[in-house]
Amino acid sequence: MSTDIDPGATRTALDLVTAAWRAQCVYAAVKLRLPDLVSAGHTRAPDLARAAGADEDAVRRLLRLLVRLGVFEVRDGGGYGTTAVGEQLRDGPGSLRDLCLLYGEEFYQAWGQAGETFRTGRPGFEEAYGQTFDSYLRDDADAAQRFQRAMQAQANGLSFDAIAEEIDFGADRHVVDIAGGSGRLLSTVLRAAPEARGTLLDLEHMLPVARAHLERTVGADRAAVVAGNMFTDRLPADADTYLLSRVLGDWPDADCVRLLRKVREAMAEHSRLVVIELVVQEDHDGLLAPLWDLHLMVVNGGRQRTLGEYRALAARSGLSVERLVPLPAEVTALVLSPQAGEA
Ligand SMILES: C[S@@+](CC[C@H](N)C(=O)[O-])C[C@H]1O[C@@H](n2cnc3c(N)ncnc32)[C@H](O)[C@@H]1O
Repeated sequence: MSTDIDPGATRTALDLVTAAWRAQCVYAAVKLRLPDLVSAGHTRAPDLARAAGADEDAVRRLLRLLVRLGVFEVRDGGGYGTTAVGEQLRDGPGSLRDLCLLYGEEFYQAWGQAGETFRTGRPGFEEAYGQTFDSYLRDDADAAQRFQRAMQAQANGLSFDAIAEEIDFGADRHVVDIAGGSGRLLSTVLRAAPEARGTLLDLEHMLPVARAHLERTVGADRAAVVAGNMFTDRLPADADTYLLSRVLGDWPDADCVRLLRKVREAMAEHSRLVVIELVVQEDHDGLLAPLWDLHLMVVNGGRQRTLGEYRALAARSGLSVERLVPLPAEVTALVLSPQAGEA
C-alpha cells in the first residue's frame, strides 16, 4: 500500500465499508413504521417514539441520519416530514415497504454469509437459514406473499410499463406468463392486448397476490391463474406470447435448458417467447446487473447472464433470439422464436 494518503480514496473506501449501515437504518425505520407514523401526524421525536414503541433518544438519532439520507426532512417549526423517498416506504399499494423488510431481514442474513458463498459457491441464504430460499417461501405463507409484493413494487421501478410500449402485443389472443409471480407483468401486457386472454402459472403457495392483482386490474374473466410446476407440469400450448420474466436468472444452465425446451414444445410455429432479465454487458458501467448477479448467487445460486450466454441457452433449446429490446434500468427483453425444423 502507498504511504501517501489519498483522502478521496479513503472516503470512498469508508463509504463502501459502511454502506450496509445505511440500508439497515432505512430498514429499522420501516420496521418501526416511522414513515407511516410521521405521515399520520406523529412529527416530533417524543410522540413518534411513543407511537412506534421505540426509544426516544434512538429515534432522534436515527432520524438525524435519515434526514441526511433524504428519507425525512425537518419542516418549518421543527417537526419531521416524509420526503418523496420516505413516501415510497409507507405502507400501501405499490410501496417499497415489503421490499425493504425482505432485504433488511432475509436477504441481509443471507448477505451476512456472502464470504462463505464466494469461498464455496453455496448460497448464503442456505448457510443462514439451513434451507433453500424456495423451501423457506413454501414453509412461510407470509414471507411468500411479502416476496411477491416486493417483486411487484420492484417492477414499478424497473421497466414493466415500457415493455408494452416497445413490443406490440395488439394482435395477441393468448399470453402465458410462466412463473408470473405477482401478475404485474401480465396485467401490463393484457392492457396492451385488448383481444387477448392471459394465463399466469406459478407455484400454488405463491399465487394469492397474483389472483388479487389480476382480478383488480384486468378482471378474473380475462386472466386465469393456474397452480403448477413449470418443470414438471404441462404448459399451455399454442399461445401467441410466452413470458419468462426474472425466472432464468434463478436457475443454473441445465435447468434453464430444461425449461426452455418445455416452452419450445408448448409453442406453435408462430409463437414467441419474451425473456426479461438484467443482462450483463461487459462494456457497460451499470451497477444493477452485476449487483443482482451476486445477489442471486447469495440467495439461491442463480446468476445474471450476458447476451452471448442467453443465445447459447436458446440454441441448446431449439430457440433463437430474434430481437433485443433494451429497456430502462439495464433490463433487456429478448424475443425468441422457434428455430426452423426444431420441435
Ligand atoms: C423472481 S420471481 C419472478 C416473478 C415474475 N415473473 C416477475 O418478473 O415479477 C420467480 C418466480 O418463479 C416462481 N417459481 C419458482 N419455481 C417455480 C416452479 N418450479 N414452477 C413455477 N413457478 C416457479 C416463483 O414462485 C416466483 O414467482
